[in-house]
Amino acid sequence: MKSEDIRKKFLEFFANRGHAIVPSSSLIPDDPSVLLTTAGMQQFKRYYTGELDPMKDFGSYNTASIQKSFRTSDIDEVGDESHLTFFEMLGNFSFGGYFKEKAVEYGREFIEDVMGLKIDYVTVFDPTKVPAGDWRKGVPRDDESRAIWEKLGVKDIRAEGTEVFWGPTGAEGPCGPTTEIYVNGVEVWNIVFNEFYCDKNRKLAPLKTPGVDTGMGLERLAMVAQNVPTIFETDLFNPLISLISGKLPMRVRRIISDHIRGIAFLVSDGVRPSNKDAGYMLRRLMRRVIAYAYRDNIGSPPQDILRLVVDQYRKFPDYRNLNSDIVIKVFSEEYEGYKEKVGPEIKATEKIFSEYKAQGKKLIPPAVIFGLHQSAGVTFDISSDIAEELGVEVDRKAFEQDLDRHKKISRAGGEKKFGGHGLILNTGELKAGSEEELKKVTRLHTATHLLNQALRDVLGKDVRQMGSDITVERTRFDFTFPRKMTADEVKKVEKIVNEKIEENLPVGFKEMPKTEAEATGALHFFKSKYPERVKIYYVGKSLEDAWSKEFCGGPHVTRIGEIGKFRIIKEEASSAGVRRIRAIVG
Ligand code: GLY
Repeated sequence: MKSEDIRKKFLEFFANRGHAIVPSSSLIPDDPSVLLTTAGMQQFKRYYTGELDPMKDFGSYNTASIQKSFRTSDIDEVGDESHLTFFEMLGNFSFGGYFKEKAVEYGREFIEDVMGLKIDYVTVFDPTKVPAGDWRKGVPRDDESRAIWEKLGVKDIRAEGTEVFWGPTGAEGPCGPTTEIYVNGVEVWNIVFNEFYCDKNRKLAPLKTPGVDTGMGLERLAMVAQNVPTIFETDLFNPLISLISGKLPMRVRRIISDHIRGIAFLVSDGVRPSNKDAGYMLRRLMRRVIAYAYRDNIGSPPQDILRLVVDQYRKFPDYRNLNSDIVIKVFSEEYEGYKEKVGPEIKATEKIFSEYKAQGKKLIPPAVIFGLHQSAGVTFDISSDIAEELGVEVDRKAFEQDLDRHKKISRAGGEKKFGGHGLILNTGELKAGSEEELKKVTRLHTATHLLNQALRDVLGKDVRQMGSDITVERTRFDFTFPRKMTADEVKKVEKIVNEKIEENLPVGFKEMPKTEAEATGALHFFKSKYPERVKIYYVGKSLEDAWSKEFCGGPHVTRIGEIGKFRIIKEEASSAGVRRIRAIVG
């Protein structure tokens, strides 16, 4: 049975049984507590709670839909036989129209009589399978569903715990026990009985009117109906997979086809690549595809595969918003920007991983993975793909912990200085809340590099930077030196910096492996842990004959003439053997 026939039969079946057919909602949900739409029930949450009236909106207590869905949590599994990020979900829903008996009967009738498939077994909820202390432990055993299945002649009924309890989606919402249908060993249909409202603290209260919410992945149903071993061999994926080079490992072909579909649908629903939330998810999908396209010959330009997806789905009324011009434009912009920047980084990543492997190390240190993500734009997914190919390992948990920690530090820094409003830059050392502030702190930042070098010129090479802090008003610079500077020394330092500024030298940077960078003699913190690849910012025409060079993430002015006049306003003790200078510019 073709997937198009499955769609038709599903909607007809439920329309003939008094269900209003409701269009798919957007992948960007109304519910702000979730990033993306993960299930058909999401657009109906407020009908379950009684806030909205289904009779008024749909003319029925029962609805059915084919909902586009996106599950970010499954991204690591994509590449196996049945996991996807983007997929379509067939679902029927009731908000007080029917409950367990009808829902189970419909399930059996559609699978066996309409689809002509054989149910292997079903599952029902049993709290004795739920771990002690779990919030679902007190939910009663679902004997009613078991009895209905028995009456319908299903022999193999298996008791399960938390696997057969749905929800809530997001922070709170309707939830309840489920019963699942398995065909050819694959779970195809999840029938949820929303009996409770689950609050933010995982406390359950009975819903006034219990409801039904079901979800059946179209791709999986097509797989069992078409009797193929993986979803990628169904008619939904065949055309896509065949555009991707057969020389690539099957896992990679699957990842590319999954991500391309996700990109087409996310962009068409208005998501744009960014560093936050849904935009970041889209960026991850895009960058992974771009990384593959850059490293390997994937067979067709990704743009052609995107166009195919749009052509494949645009014919369905729910997906008229798919627009290949927009999808390709948004993708190509990300492609151009990223290819230039990250192409070399990908090669470097391969080299770094190979070196670890040659040293007999299996796990790439999490700090390296985070460094690649943070300073080289190599996302975790790409690192993980390269690791898989080279036979080394990466630790996702550690990466996520690093990312969380970094976000918390940035946020805390921002809130302290700007009350949490509109921080556009926070490197720890520099913070700016607006474009104008950004310009000012950037000038102070470059001036700080000049100060560092001038201090070494005047006081000797034992001067070492101990820390710096730059606000819109001033730079504060701590360095090792055993005594108070004389007034003459302070003047000399100031003079050197201002002479350099007058020369209006250019500022450049170069990126390279850490060991290579250390060999250039560029200044850097002794104890600091740098990533495997670092940037060196230098003042002068080239790195080789630069007067000032330091390991640094930027930002800096392009020519030091932009800094304006430099003035030291204070020299004082910071702690034993450490002096502190405050300076201003402009
Ligand atoms: N809401 C039921 C499911 O997505 O499986």
